[in-house]
Amino acid sequence: MALLEIVTYPEKILSRPTRLIENIDGDIQYLIENMAHTMYQAPGVGLAAIQVGINKSLMVYDISPKDKERSLQVLINPRIVSSEGSLLSEDEGCLSVPDFRSDVKRAAAITVEGVDRNEKPVRIDAEGFLAIVLQHEIDHLNGILFIDRISALKRGIYKRKVFKNLKRK
Ligand code: NI
Repeated sequence: MALLEIVTYPEKILSRPTRLIENIDGDIQYLIENMAHTMYQAPGVGLAAIQVGINKSLMVYDISPKDKERSLQVLINPRIVSSEGSLLSEDEGCLSVPDFRSDVKRAAAITVEGVDRNEKPVRIDAEGFLAIVLQHEIDHLNGILFIDRISALKRGIYKRKVFKNLKRK
């Protein structure tokens, strides 16, 4: 397994909507393994293919508690088919947005449809933390980062920090 390089803001690829996967072949299975490895190493609870520079509608996640066994979940071509309510996702972060966290307004409950790595259709009714993780990762697949969902003022603070650091390099 290979550790993949995680793309970070302001790389333009992160704002691109991803392409649907038509054929879940060996290359995709290999990519899933490497993405899972990379997510666990980071460590993170979710990772979208676009975050490792691959423009495909694919995400992995695992929200099982640290002291429990791993439970890798894979979603291909996922979409939110319904959502309701709202909640405040506290202190949300992202492997592609290092050194920054913010509260983000999210839907409280969502239903997601997609397929798993065996091409089996899946439908997930999610609320709470799972709903947050799914919304965050599906946002990635649509070219949206969590900093796109916070106030312009807060986003500005982060952007200034990033661009100051880039100039220093
Ligand atoms: Ni993220």
